[in-house]
Amino acid sequence: MKKKIIIDCDVGVDDALALILAFHSPELEIGAVTGVNGNVSLEQVFANIQKVLFLIQPQHHPFIARGADRPLKGIPTYAHSVHGEDGLGGVKIDLKKEEKWWHLFSGPAHELITEMARQHPDELTLIAIGPLTNLALALQKDLPGMKKLKELVIMGGAVRTQGNITPHAEFNIFVDPLAAQMVLASGLPITLVPLDVTHRVFLSSRLIEERIKPLSNPFGRFVTEATGYSLTSQRFRRGSEVFHLHDPLAVAVAIDPDLVRKERLSILVEIEEGERYGQTFEVAEEEASAAHKLDVCLGVNSEKFLELFLSRLGA
Ligand code: BDR
Ligand code: CA
Repeated sequence: MKKKIIIDCDVGVDDALALILAFHSPELEIGAVTGVNGNVSLEQVFANIQKVLFLIQPQHHPFIARGADRPLKGIPTYAHSVHGEDGLGGVKIDLKKEEKWWHLFSGPAHELITEMARQHPDELTLIAIGPLTNLALALQKDLPGMKKLKELVIMGGAVRTQGNITPHAEFNIFVDPLAAQMVLASGLPITLVPLDVTHRVFLSSRLIEERIKPLSNPFGRFVTEATGYSLTSQRFRRGSEVFHLHDPLAVAVAIDPDLVRKERLSILVEIEEGERYGQTFEVAEEEASAAHKLDVCLGVNSEKFLELFLSRLGA
C-alpha cells in the first residue's frame, strides 16, 4: 500500500530535489503540495512549486495551495544566498499556460491540510520541509483535523549540533520559532529530521561527475544547474564543496524509516529574542510535558540514502 502524503515546502533548491524524490517514489502517493514563506517569498515559492511540477510532470496531479506569506511573529528571513534570487538557482523552466500538472485549491494551505486529514483519517503523512507556519495555523484553526494525521516528518532543528543560520539555530525553525514551538509541543506523532543527520547527506563533485552527469536526463541537468555546480571550479554555489540534501532526507525517512536511528527526546524551542533565538534544545523528561516528546533522528545510513536518492533521479 502506498503512503498518502502532503508536502509543505518553501521551494528552495533542496525542496525541489525533495519533490523530485517524492514524485519518483512508488512507495508514496502525493496528494498535495502546499507552499509557505521561507527560503523565498510565498509568491516565489508558489511559482516554484508549479515549475518543479512542470519539470516532473506527475501522472497523478496533486492539489496545490498557497499558505502563510509571513511568520506568526516578526518579519521574513530569506535564504537567497543559498538558493539564488528565484529560489531555484536561476534554472529556466518555461511553464506552458495550457499545461497544468496540478489542481489548484482555492483556500489556504492549512485548510487543505486539515481537509485532507479528515478525508483520510489516520492515513496521511505530512512532510514539512519549510518553516512551520502553515502547520501552526492548522493547529490553531482545526486541532481535531490535525489529530487525524497519521504522522508528521519535519525537517528542522539542530539538536546536538550547531545551527546553520546562527550558531544555535537551524533555518526552518529560526524563521518562525513561535510556530515551531506550537507544532513541536502539539503531542502529534512527529519525527524530527534535524541538521544532526541532514549535514551527513550531501552531493559532492565526485557524485556530480560520476553519477549525476551520466544520467543525461532533465533531472540530472536540473540538479547540476540548480545547485550552482561549476564545471570549471567543481564547486557548488558560493564556492561550497558540498550541497546538503536536507529536505530530500525528510522524504526518504517517510519512504524508509530504517534509514535513520531515532531517539525519543523532549525538545523545546527558544522563542525569546537573543542569541539563542530559534534554537531547538533537549530537556530532561521531567522538565517538559509528555506532549514535547518527539522521535528525533540522530543517526543516518548516508550511503543507503544516497543510493535511494540517485536511483530515483534516473526515473
Ligand atoms: C532547511 O533550510 C532551507 O534553506 C532548506 O530548504 C531546508 O529546508 C535547512 O536548514
Ligand atoms: Ca526547505
